[in-house]
Amino acid sequence: MEEILGDFQRLIVPSTTHWNHPAFMAYFANSSTGAGVLGEALTAALNVNAMLWRTSPAATELELLTMDWLRQMLGLPANFFGVIADTASSNTLYALAAAREVRPRLRIREQGTVARTDLPPMFIYCSEEAHSSVDKAVMTLGFGLNALKKISTDDKLRMDANELAAVIERDLSAGALPLAVVATVGTTSTTAIDPVPEIAQICARHKMWLHVDASYGGTAAILPEMRHVLDGCDRADSLVVNPHKWLFTPMDCSALYTRHPDLLRRAFQHIPDYLVVPETEGEGAGKGVANLMDYGIALGRRFRALKLWFVIRSFGVEGLRSIIRDHIRIARLLAEWIDSDPELERLADVNFSTVVFRHHPAGMTGRKLDDHNARLLQNVLEAREVYLSHTRVRGSYALRIAIGNIHTTEAHVRRALDLVRNAAEAG
Ligand SMILES: Cc1ncc(COP(=O)(O)O)c(C=O)c1O
Repeated sequence: MEEILGDFQRLIVPSTTHWNHPAFMAYFANSSTGAGVLGEALTAALNVNAMLWRTSPAATELELLTMDWLRQMLGLPANFFGVIADTASSNTLYALAAAREVRPRLRIREQGTVARTDLPPMFIYCSEEAHSSVDKAVMTLGFGLNALKKISTDDKLRMDANELAAVIERDLSAGALPLAVVATVGTTSTTAIDPVPEIAQICARHKMWLHVDASYGGTAAILPEMRHVLDGCDRADSLVVNPHKWLFTPMDCSALYTRHPDLLRRAFQHIPDYLVVPETEGEGAGKGVANLMDYGIALGRRFRALKLWFVIRSFGVEGLRSIIRDHIRIARLLAEWIDSDPELERLADVNFSTVVFRHHPAGMTGRKLDDHNARLLQNVLEAREVYLSHTRVRGSYALRIAIGNIHTTEAHVRRALDLVRNAAEAG
């Protein structure tokens, strides 16, 4: 073991991109915390498989309990049932699988979608800023990428609800079946917030499933003063939020909430003889017991709730709030520093803890400006003191500073901005 640990220090640690470092501010920065690491280690020590309630009563019950705690922390309605999967990508796919079970007459569970001349064209809608996991879900579920309609965004990069309504109307009159909308609260690129209340209204009008991707941004709603970011989400059919993004829980832990656990089960429940148990939901003496294998593709399920339970209990809701509140404070401060520098230009609103901007020397435009910022970022990264990432805002190259690591302080962010400025000066 000494030798293995020695090799770990010698080979693995120096060859790692340290997401757990306070100067990691790329993508959506995350953190594992002592409590989370302990929970994760104990999950491995117990090594239970929470497929059936009886194969791990504690893991099943704790998953439902922690999901209910998180639901309350986020201010979501009591009829939102929550389960944990590895990632938001899985959960969005599960939600869209459930969405087509709203109409059992389509018989997709039984007959699939291949060579079905009896099915109308089915469409799913999201904004042009939605995460690529939505594309992957429609590819995997057999809808095909052409079934995903990307709705344009307004000047704040939010889905244009008027266009959504118009496109759906057009599809309906052409005999298509608009199935679901994926709205985003906190887009990956610029953290824009789609107008969920308006989108919910459109979905209700057409009996469409509304899935909200709040993987990153949703966590902010644990702050009473930020709860508005989930406005309208009480009307969603499903919502995903990732404790492994901004809630200090180690990878992987993604929460899926739905008002229709029955439809999620209809999409995924398939019980072979050797897994039939008397307490299976709806049957036998233990009616009401959940077998979590019924809510997704995985049979074998890790005890992911344990680390979240450790994190929520050890920090407490107020403790978690104070860290997130501070991240938002620092991000707003960073925005002020950027706004007061004539050579820096902010490219998006700061809705959460992520700031999107570029260095903009007077007179520089177009491709030259993009290349300048790409080079600048490369120079910052090569110095290996901070890790920032990039995106494109309406085609223009932009830098992103995402504050989400529990150890990141104002000083780290100040330093990151200084490094950007130094790299800009160095040319
Ligand atoms: C808005 C949004 N949705 C989904 C995802 C995918 O999350 P996961 O890595 O858990 O699949 C991301 C990742 O950053 C994201 O930003």
